[in-house]
Amino acid sequence: MSDTGNKPQVVLGVGGGIAAYKVCELLRRLTESGHRVRVVPTDEALRFVGEPTWAALSGQPVVTGVWATVHEVPHVRIGQSADLVFVAPATANILAKAAAGLADDLLTNTLLTARCPVVFAPAMHTEMWEHPATRANVGTLRSRGAIVLDPAVGRLTGADTGRGRLPEPAELFEAARLALRRGAAVPDLVGRRVVISAGGTRESIDPVRFIGNHSSGKQGYALARTAVARGADVTLVAANVSLSDPAGARVVPVTSAVELAEAMEAERVDADVIVMSAAVADFRPAASVISKIKKSGTAPAPIELVENPDVLAGLVAARKREGTGQIIVGFAAETDDVLANGRAKLARKGCDLLVVNQVGGGRAFGTEDNQAVVLGSEGTAVEIPHGPKEDLADRVWDLVGERSSR
Ligand code: CTP
Repeated sequence: MSDTGNKPQVVLGVGGGIAAYKVCELLRRLTESGHRVRVVPTDEALRFVGEPTWAALSGQPVVTGVWATVHEVPHVRIGQSADLVFVAPATANILAKAAAGLADDLLTNTLLTARCPVVFAPAMHTEMWEHPATRANVGTLRSRGAIVLDPAVGRLTGADTGRGRLPEPAELFEAARLALRRGAAVPDLVGRRVVISAGGTRESIDPVRFIGNHSSGKQGYALARTAVARGADVTLVAANVSLSDPAGARVVPVTSAVELAEAMEAERVDADVIVMSAAVADFRPAASVISKIKKSGTAPAPIELVENPDVLAGLVAARKREGTGQIIVGFAAETDDVLANGRAKLARKGCDLLVVNQVGGGRAFGTEDNQAVVLGSEGTAVEIPHGPKEDLADRVWDLVGERSSR
């Protein structure tokens, strides 16, 4: 930990991109939540947001080069005493310099001397992000243990849209918090592609009504955020979730169980790990009504339901058919006979791990905390005590890691 009491010391590197303005908000969130932040911009970053803004918001001096306060040896000391180096926006230029190990300003010197977790939040035009040179630099940085968050998709600087947008400050803050929480632990999911379903499906009755469920998606989003923090390439198939997109994850929005099944079918192909945490409706209305159902004064005819595909069972069947070594994790929400129902469900679905939690009575749905038992296909049962959903998520990744290293 830093030399400044027990406040975590964060170095916030700022690159020369228009998204630097969003990083003021990240800085504010970091300082207000008790972090000591030293901002190290590049000269180009100061063209977008000036030195007084960074100095005032951080309460610390701001320099870009190595020639100020030389007696304090800042080009070495700042990196050495950091608990986290977070670079946002990380331009194509910064990624290239960091990958090559250049040290021509304070930020690049700091990146070479830091031995703490390093997170890059790139932002640039799609063409630059997709260029083979940038892909290679990102690959190099990830292979060295840095977390490089995939940029978000959306409006870019001009009228164009695409991948390259800096994730929202609140989500950058979450990524920084989770990186600090992991501390010296190596990112153990680097190079692994994980696909997570989250939220709850909606089955349309008519244009204004649907059959849904109480799932908020928080557990699935916690799985996505923690997987990003461990270096995974994360795709989140999100059914009707009103949470902001986790920084670094690719989000595929869906509504119904059939749409979710189609999205999972497309995403499963090169996945190493699949986690089905979505609450999928077992049934949907047989007829798709395009006009609002009206009161007629007499009781309406009952809605006829047909069964939805069992997505999890389908994923397990595809793995068996194709002989891939994917790890497949299911979730089970049970109201009673939790363990017995969980064991029967694990056997029925054929997945590797089943995270069983008790729901109803205000438990699990929409809450910040969760508790569960994770059943393994060989008969193991690991209790995860009551705690934040991200603790449960991390335990699930631990168990996935144990299986994949066998
Ligand atoms: N699931 C799925 N497709 C469905 C229903 C459920 O993929 N049509 C997945 C869920 O995402 C979860 C697991 O199966 O990972 C268990 O879901 P749950 O609703 O608890 O079980 P059901 O399959 O609905 O079984 P039951 O009706 O017996 O509770």
